[in-house]
Amino acid sequence: MKYGFFDDEAKEYVIQDPKTPFPWINYLGNDDFFSLISNTAGGYSFYKDAKFRRLNRYRYNNVPMDNGGRYFYINDGESIWSPGWKPVKTALEEYECRHGLSYTKIKGKKNNLSAEVTFFVPLGSWVEIQKMVLKNNGDQAKSFKLFSYNEWCLWNAEDDQNNLQRNLSTGEIEIKDSTIYHKTEYKERRNHFAFYHVNDSIDGYDTDRESFVGLYNELSSPEVVVSGEASNSEAHGWSPIASHYKEITLQPGEQKELIFLLGYVENEEDKKWESKGVINKEKSDQLIEKFNTVEKVDQAFKELAAYWDNLLSVISIDHDDDKLSRMVNIWNQYQCMVTFNMSRSASFFEVGIGRGMGFRDSNQDLIGFVHQVPEKARQRIIDIASTQFPDGSCYHQYQPLTKRGNDAIGGGFNDDPMWLILGTISYIKESGDFTILDEMVPFDNDPSLAQTLFDHLRISFDHVINNLGPNGLPLIGRADWNDCLNLNCFSNDPNESFQTTENNTEGSKAESLMIAGLFVVYGNDYVELCEVLGKEEEVERAKGHVAKMKEAVKQKGWDGEWFLRAYDFYGNKVGSDENEEGKIFIESQGWCSMAEIGLEEGLVKKSLDSVKERLDTPYGIVLNNPAFTEYKIEYGEISTYPKGYKENAGIFCHNNPWIMIAETKIGRGNQAWDYYKKISPAYLEDIQKLHKVEPYVYCQMIAGKDAYIPGEGKNSWLSGTAAWNFYAVVHYILGIQPDYYGLRVDPCIPSDWKEYTVNRKFRGSDYEITIKNPNQIEKGHVTLSVNGEEIVGNLIPFKQGRKYKVIATIS
Ligand code: GLC
Ligand code: GLC
Repeated sequence: MKYGFFDDEAKEYVIQDPKTPFPWINYLGNDDFFSLISNTAGGYSFYKDAKFRRLNRYRYNNVPMDNGGRYFYINDGESIWSPGWKPVKTALEEYECRHGLSYTKIKGKKNNLSAEVTFFVPLGSWVEIQKMVLKNNGDQAKSFKLFSYNEWCLWNAEDDQNNLQRNLSTGEIEIKDSTIYHKTEYKERRNHFAFYHVNDSIDGYDTDRESFVGLYNELSSPEVVVSGEASNSEAHGWSPIASHYKEITLQPGEQKELIFLLGYVENEEDKKWESKGVINKEKSDQLIEKFNTVEKVDQAFKELAAYWDNLLSVISIDHDDDKLSRMVNIWNQYQCMVTFNMSRSASFFEVGIGRGMGFRDSNQDLIGFVHQVPEKARQRIIDIASTQFPDGSCYHQYQPLTKRGNDAIGGGFNDDPMWLILGTISYIKESGDFTILDEMVPFDNDPSLAQTLFDHLRISFDHVINNLGPNGLPLIGRADWNDCLNLNCFSNDPNESFQTTENNTEGSKAESLMIAGLFVVYGNDYVELCEVLGKEEEVERAKGHVAKMKEAVKQKGWDGEWFLRAYDFYGNKVGSDENEEGKIFIESQGWCSMAEIGLEEGLVKKSLDSVKERLDTPYGIVLNNPAFTEYKIEYGEISTYPKGYKENAGIFCHNNPWIMIAETKIGRGNQAWDYYKKISPAYLEDIQKLHKVEPYVYCQMIAGKDAYIPGEGKNSWLSGTAAWNFYAVVHYILGIQPDYYGLRVDPCIPSDWKEYTVNRKFRGSDYEITIKNPNQIEKGHVTLSVNGEEIVGNLIPFKQGRKYKVIATIS
């Protein structure tokens, strides 16, 4: 069962049935102003921070799901309907939703009238544009009534839902001509307001929710819409809304365009008022002026398309697999950018009031977008590193609005520091900009504690070796990458969070093999960086520690058929055949294999064979097996999830590409590719009903083999999965890797691929790299011909401003 299709030419996913198995959403906005929008126009907007600057209300986990958004109602005397089907749910003669790159077009048709709305946030402006095109397709004049609807959030999205004793009395609005202003709390501590405007005269309005909807009605049948006339209500307290009302007549074939603008404005303290109690509208007037005609809006839309064309032109492939092409060329890159913008803050699963930017998350996200916007990546690295502590440990999260570490969660996640090495090195390899290493970067946001970014990397490296346990393996702290493997928690109180509760690290023997592998992978990268920088002593010192860690893993981290996962508080093995449940875990197989620990002795191959045997399923690779069936207090949150879900033996998509990459290390392209296809959304179109979440983006988790319904996806959009899969497929399968001195070509592919081309912009030069596989092998020796000349090795050298035509032959 399919609900739509990919339109690759337009770079859109086209939904033809509004009743998708879950709301299928899109993100609008690229800078400071963002919106989420579902295929029926549900969702909300915010400025920078989904918690503190929420423009409109959204009730999560609603009945029905996804109720609330920016809605339009049409009452034509015969029927009442909405162009996006919801909230009215009158059957439409035609419905279509096109989710594109930072825009969504929704179209409905009923009784000879069609209404199409294009939603987008123009570049560099704090406004959501809703361009509506109404058309009479019949042969008689058509009169109807149009209502818009937007419910204001009183700014702080958390307080808005909680503090009703206050909130039901504070709402304030202003109305002037066709604009409705929301100015709750503007007279005291806020310097910002929002507005909802339409570029035409109106015949009425409503600003009080209950007057519009009716206390006993629902959004599907607002009283005002049903009665066919606005009530011109003025909100004082209660729930302020913005609704325009317009009576329209269209002649046969006639078309009418309306531009609705949902905007956000900040005023300086001394410029807040035009007169007593009346807001100064200079800036909102300017914003309206900027987008008040179809021509201006169409121009802004073109600029947005050009912006995306440019971003996507950095990496693209010509490949005869359409699904792979649409993932690599369009959707995976798009998702990486959204993840860069949102981190894990706001989706239909993350309610936008909790998390800020994660230290580990943001460093990992970087590998998915650094090629598109290296300058933004540079700033991101410095922001992240500024929240590190002088001993190398890190705030686990920081707030995007203040860029300061989040005290509520604190630190102590011992994998965090190593990810800074990944982020920084990825940036340098892409951009060639070594100057970032000399930037003075604060610790704990305190400029008096600043050291160079290079020092931050050294201190990150040292944090691991300064925190080793009894087996010479890294102490885990609160948790490593797996937030839910809480070996030092021992929590008995359902009201405490596993991540923040008092941590029992004193005297703990809990060590992590995942961090050990991570340390070897990025420790080696750190060594290489020091070599490039000519820091010989540091090279030797670091090499020694990496070698020791490898040895410790071989001696104490090998279980016989796979790598152990950890040692617990008491020093007992976690992820061993000795255990009854949780015998084997994916993370340490991924990291120790990527680190090639015991490669010669065959450990990597054995580990990956065990993954295949015990963790692989038709829908992806599960995190651990067997799943936990009872709460193990010494393991923490992982054993709280029902079996097959989330970290307890769910397919946690983020870590699947670690195995794909590891497979490429031992040359098994067929296997890497098979794993890729299992979770790559474009390949799941045929099982959409089961998979549920969007077929154009990765989700965090797919229910594992022990779950009630294996294959069901959850938590789409904001996940490290986006960056890691892009990285795995482009760097390790397709095999194009930026390196300090050029692009390296090192593919590991399914043996039936004969030829494909990767187009790459890299440090101001253009590359067209065609990979040929005449012998139908998975991996082999690469011979390069660069602009007709054979060169030795697999590194394409680079000079700025050149065009390179490269043939890479695998033999
Ligand atoms: C989520 C978190 C990430 C963590 C992962 C596994 O994706 O954002 O930080 O590593 O879950 O627990
Ligand atoms: C990650 C995990 C989730 C856990 C959360 C805690 O997102 O996926 O299961 O509850 O981290 O921060």
